[in-house]
Amino acid sequence: MPADILESLKPTILVIFGINGDLSRRKLLPAIYQLVKQDLLPETFCIVGVTRNEMSNKELLEGMQQTMAESGKKCDPHMLQKLSDMIEMVAMDLLDPAQYAQLRERLNGIENDRGVCMNRLFYLAIPAQIFEPVVAQLGKNDLSKSCQHGTGASRLLVEKPFGYDLASAHELLNVLGEHYSEEQIYRIDHYLAKETAQNILNFRFQNPIFARNWDNKSIKHIMITAAESIGIEGRVAFYEQTGALRDLIQSHLLQLLALVTMEKPKTLTSADVHHQKLELLKSITPIAPNMVEANAVRGQYDTYRAEVENADSLSETYAAIRLEIDNPRWEGVPILLRTGKALAEKVVDIAVVFSDEDDLTQENVLTIRIQPNEGIALQLLVKKPGFTNEVEPVQMDFCYRNSFSGQSAHPDAYERVIIDAFRGDKTLFATSFEVIASWEIIESVIHEWAKNDTGLEIYKTGSWGPKAADTLAEKAGMAWVMPDMQVCQTHTHATK
Ligand code: BG6
Repeated sequence: MPADILESLKPTILVIFGINGDLSRRKLLPAIYQLVKQDLLPETFCIVGVTRNEMSNKELLEGMQQTMAESGKKCDPHMLQKLSDMIEMVAMDLLDPAQYAQLRERLNGIENDRGVCMNRLFYLAIPAQIFEPVVAQLGKNDLSKSCQHGTGASRLLVEKPFGYDLASAHELLNVLGEHYSEEQIYRIDHYLAKETAQNILNFRFQNPIFARNWDNKSIKHIMITAAESIGIEGRVAFYEQTGALRDLIQSHLLQLLALVTMEKPKTLTSADVHHQKLELLKSITPIAPNMVEANAVRGQYDTYRAEVENADSLSETYAAIRLEIDNPRWEGVPILLRTGKALAEKVVDIAVVFSDEDDLTQENVLTIRIQPNEGIALQLLVKKPGFTNEVEPVQMDFCYRNSFSGQSAHPDAYERVIIDAFRGDKTLFATSFEVIASWEIIESVIHEWAKNDTGLEIYKTGSWGPKAADTLAEKAGMAWVMPDMQVCQTHTHATK
């Protein structure tokens, strides 16, 4: 990280509500551990970890280590100690209004000890159902204001889901808005903080070969896939309420689509990027109730109902939708988004299919691989060596691993999220308007799917999901680009 960014980080207290929850153990604490290791935190810094029951730093960090060990990461005892020294645990019943005054006193005490006014960041790593009472109490107890002496920022970091549907999203917005200004609210979409997602705008606008051909004259269709091989990993209550459409499409995938299709912002500053992103989201035609059957597919992996102990569960673990963007650049270009759990592979990528207006059979596929094997590949048609004129698809590959191997690994998405919230840069966070526009696009699908189980296809764990998703693609004149179109590997290409 450039030295000036590090120096700009003001004294900060990070309050994490739900510090022992799944999100915190899996993503947040490991990211903070990495920041400790790289010495990338503000010089004056403290974490206040809020849990429902008493818990020691040691217990908390053992949980984190266990989760990290599951993905093959080992912790350095010295760094663990350093992290532990930064954490003050607080046991608190978040639904008891009386306890917020005590929290405020605790934060005041930390500032008194340090002798400085500190920025206060409140991270809601808690179930969305209790966002409202928690935020109301923060507001009522003046915790949404500056520090006690002097001027410091108070920011609210919110994890999705930002609402459950359009109406509840508006409601949440109003409640948050009563106590926090839009400027103070950081809505986390960690996909935006992935290095490859950040590259999308630069890639599109800095390379004339693509900048000039990024429209319906050259592009035949766009597909975004977020496939996960894991299931719901014990998050029963969350997933039963949420499902794949809300979990990934309403948030991450519509945000990625906006980056791929928005008009060029005047600058890459937060305001300009958000302006164009919102324009784009508003120009996506919402799926009408009578089009849900034709344009949306859902599925559930075969062991899901047993796992959640609900034989009638309607929660989809797979969702695919077809969209159209109603503007001159994208008119007539079908767009497919799909996501699912318990699928054959973990892969997130964006396939942009170029073709000749006069010969749609000739294609060049540009694949932006968000993860894993981050990179960009362009499939070209070349003549096969030999005596005939036969052409064959081959790939040109840009692979982060190879091209930037001399540099330190890029920051994990949550490391980036945390640093950006510390320094008050909102470029990679979703705005309230974007959240509402995204709910509007899928609102009818949510309501139609809630009515009954029509079309809910059970798919085999480890497969590529419901057959109906292939039909959805075929009806749009497309075929899903399969991940055996390898990016960053020795490759063979196949479209299905
Ligand atoms: C989260 C979803 O937003 O993203 C999870 O709630 C999902 O269900 C996760 O597993 C995927 O994130 P990543 O970074 O592992 O691709």
